[in-house]
Amino acid sequence: MRDDVPNSWEARAEEYSLYGFTDLPSVHKRGTVVLTHGEGPYIVDTHGKRYLDANSGLWNMVAGFDHPGLIAAGQEQFARFPGYHAFFGRMSDQTVMLSERLVDVSPFPRGKVFYTNSGSEANDTMVKMLWFLAQSEGKPERRKILTRVNAYHGVTAVSASMTGKPYNSVFGLPLPGFIHLSCPHYWRFGEQGETEEQFTQRMAKELEDTILAEGPDTIAGFFAEPVQGAGGVIPPSKGYFQAVQPILKKYGIPLISDEVICGFGRTGNTWGCETYDFVPDAIISSKALTAGYFPMGAIILGPDLADRMQAASEAIEEFPHGFTASGHPVGCAVALKAIDIIMNEGLADRARELTPRFEAGLARLAENPNIGEWRGKGLMGALEAVKDKATKTPFDGKLSVSERIANTCTDHGLICRPLGQSIVLCPPFIMTETQMDEMFEKLEAALKQVFAEVA
Ligand SMILES: Cc1ncc(COP(=O)(O)O)c(C=O)c1O
Repeated sequence: MRDDVPNSWEARAEEYSLYGFTDLPSVHKRGTVVLTHGEGPYIVDTHGKRYLDANSGLWNMVAGFDHPGLIAAGQEQFARFPGYHAFFGRMSDQTVMLSERLVDVSPFPRGKVFYTNSGSEANDTMVKMLWFLAQSEGKPERRKILTRVNAYHGVTAVSASMTGKPYNSVFGLPLPGFIHLSCPHYWRFGEQGETEEQFTQRMAKELEDTILAEGPDTIAGFFAEPVQGAGGVIPPSKGYFQAVQPILKKYGIPLISDEVICGFGRTGNTWGCETYDFVPDAIISSKALTAGYFPMGAIILGPDLADRMQAASEAIEEFPHGFTASGHPVGCAVALKAIDIIMNEGLADRARELTPRFEAGLARLAENPNIGEWRGKGLMGALEAVKDKATKTPFDGKLSVSERIANTCTDHGLICRPLGQSIVLCPPFIMTETQMDEMFEKLEAALKQVFAEVA
């Protein structure tokens, strides 16, 4: 510890840590919230202040912050076998059991699972699998990846290239060959007089036109979140996946469902693809997979991709890829418990039970003249702030309206997330009705206060 750094958690945090995705002027002014522990859906800082976390950490802590079953599962596995890899024909018994379970709960009749430490790595690995298949199957030009504007697929060089947000230009990304189609957000991007069905058809036509213009044999895969999460909680327009999937099938392009947020109950079903009634070729999972209690990502391949990956790997004797901690025994034990809690011990049911109250709360706050739209699915939702509701005109970006709302909420003991001009809520599934009411009351007070300042 240095003498010239004030002895406070806030000063020490700022001096020694480099922050990611953090508005630094705001941190300088307000100080870092340094946390010590959590209680149910609340987190507690070093001053003993409690915050209701309406974002489940980063969408992942669906069982709250002190779930005894999850903690015990981790502790027991730490005592039994605290770490191993999944290379060279070895893996832990927990890894075997988790793969079996993941295929079992997937929409696929059979399949195969590969592990990573995060959602970004899982998407990155999936792209490498598609490139590996292209090389192995004698179509090396099949390398381009299709995603959408406002997609969030992660931060590694490849997954950031898939992410459709302008901030990646500071890294000189996307890499060549990563193509971003339009965002299927009808409220924001629908044209004057265009019905939602017509909008969806326009999205599908854009996809087919792009495939034809690029050359169908140059495209390796299409990745989509069922609901775009970090892009601002954007459910697809009506019939979107039903319109795009036949086009992808026609040109032999795999559809990869990025279920890092949607997976394991967030949208009201185990998978977002179930909610939107399509069966993809592979699923990317993370976050609620371990209820946030261990870093883990998983790729679940459906039968076609699983068979092709097996054949391509056997052709050169191995799939030359993997991480030291892929299929970590503690992570797998925690994931097995998390899946049990979500699917068999009532957590997914609880999320479904809470949804009508959640939607009613969002709809009520959307009556505010400065909220243009509420949107969401299951227990993920957003309120979009606007200067003018009729014309959907956003506030001047310099006003930082959503950041001000989120900061005001933090002052009052509520964590919610500003995304563009929207406020995102994705509460843990364990919330009580009273806690949900507390969430909306605090948010409503913050909206009133900030809109009075800026409107
Ligand atoms: C849909 C989606 N994919 C991928 C990622 C990246 O996951 P990670 O932050 O674990 O790398 C995220 C993270 O929020 C996500 O929301």
